[in-house]
Amino acid sequence: MDYFNEVDYLVFKKKMDNDILDKFTKDALNEAFSNNTYRTLRTMETPESSHVKIRNAKVYTEHEQILLASNSYLDLANIPELKQAMAQAVLDWGTGSGGARLTTGNKTPHEELENELAKFKGEDAAITFNTGYMANVGTISALCGKNDIIFSDALNHASIIDGIRLSRAKCIVYKHNDMADLEHALRKVGAEATGNSQSPNAPKPKMLIVTDAVFSMDGDLANLPELLRIARTYNSLLMIDEAHATGVIGRTGRGLAEHYNCKHADVTVGTLSKAIACEGGFVVGKKQLIEFLKNKSRSFIFTTAMSPAMAAGALNNLRFLANHPERVQQLQENVKFFCECLHHEGLCESTSPSAIVPIIIGDEAAALEASAMLLERGYVIPAIRYPTVAKGHARLRASLMATHTKEELQTAAAVIAQVIKSKK
Ligand SMILES: Cc1ncc(COP(=O)(O)O)c(C=O)c1O
Repeated sequence: MDYFNEVDYLVFKKKMDNDILDKFTKDALNEAFSNNTYRTLRTMETPESSHVKIRNAKVYTEHEQILLASNSYLDLANIPELKQAMAQAVLDWGTGSGGARLTTGNKTPHEELENELAKFKGEDAAITFNTGYMANVGTISALCGKNDIIFSDALNHASIIDGIRLSRAKCIVYKHNDMADLEHALRKVGAEATGNSQSPNAPKPKMLIVTDAVFSMDGDLANLPELLRIARTYNSLLMIDEAHATGVIGRTGRGLAEHYNCKHADVTVGTLSKAIACEGGFVVGKKQLIEFLKNKSRSFIFTTAMSPAMAAGALNNLRFLANHPERVQQLQENVKFFCECLHHEGLCESTSPSAIVPIIIGDEAAALEASAMLLERGYVIPAIRYPTVAKGHARLRASLMATHTKEELQTAAAVIAQVIKSKK
């Protein structure tokens, strides 16, 4: 091939590559568009709080909207003293960590945050990750390998599913929150292992049960006492993800063990990004587990440490939460009140045990339209659709904050009912 032909070929190949990329992405987007799962980003023009201003292609309003969509359940993201503390942490610690935790990135605030997390959760030790997603992925893939078996709730969060995939363990999905189905699956695996005794020296598979503590799209709780019993009976490890439980569940927001007054799971994951209103994920448990993760969890090892200012900010917010249990109780009262209002409007059967209140619509297009109509009326409540939830189970997903007023919640319930009834 002479020089000119080679250039021609490279130009042609580049065009071919582009054609392949264009076609692949266009087909995928067209498909998403035609089945109402196309997603666009919304821009918030104000900090995360119970009142926001948002802008998107269709709706622009000068007025504030009531945000019933945030994971910042305690509304800590915009409190002046907490913002001030984080700003001071930037002045003290600079903008970035400069290295991985195991090289130069480990600073005093990381250690203090981990000590405080362990204390808050009533456990021996803690390790932080840059996100809750990374905590799940890095913990599951460090604990389990291809000879192991993981029992996973059908509605577990994507980060748990991705961690299981990365581990290459065999995965058995049990019916959502169905303890009989889980026990049946464990019993079956146990019976198969006993029947399969040709190689008595073969290593026994590790078994891990893993579940969300609060299910992120339904707002219901995992049954921790029953999970502990099953795990002990069948010699399985138990891991729970308290992303939506920390700061929300239990009288003082310490999570499921406080709520049920029972023991902790072997491994408890959480996030700093929701009620604690910062960024980062964590695992709490026995000291040796935490040492193991520091040595073996790839999403902890092979990434730059979270900025020390973020760690210091999360520490301040966590201390604020520990000192203000009344804020957790205010959130719980708000949920109860909002569910009563929805019930009064014929939209909700019982109160939600968490801060997440799903209002099931079913059809993807109808849920999208209801969410758009609510936005025009001043309420931000997203439509959650496939693939986040199963096809035909689209919903409005309201999530509450401790700072919503009773009046706001009562009016919101009435407007939601009006919108839904207008579509029937
Ligand atoms: C149950 C659950 N686990 C983990 C995560 C991930 O946490 P993060 O946002 O900190 O990555 C989320 C949501 O984002 C979640 O809902």
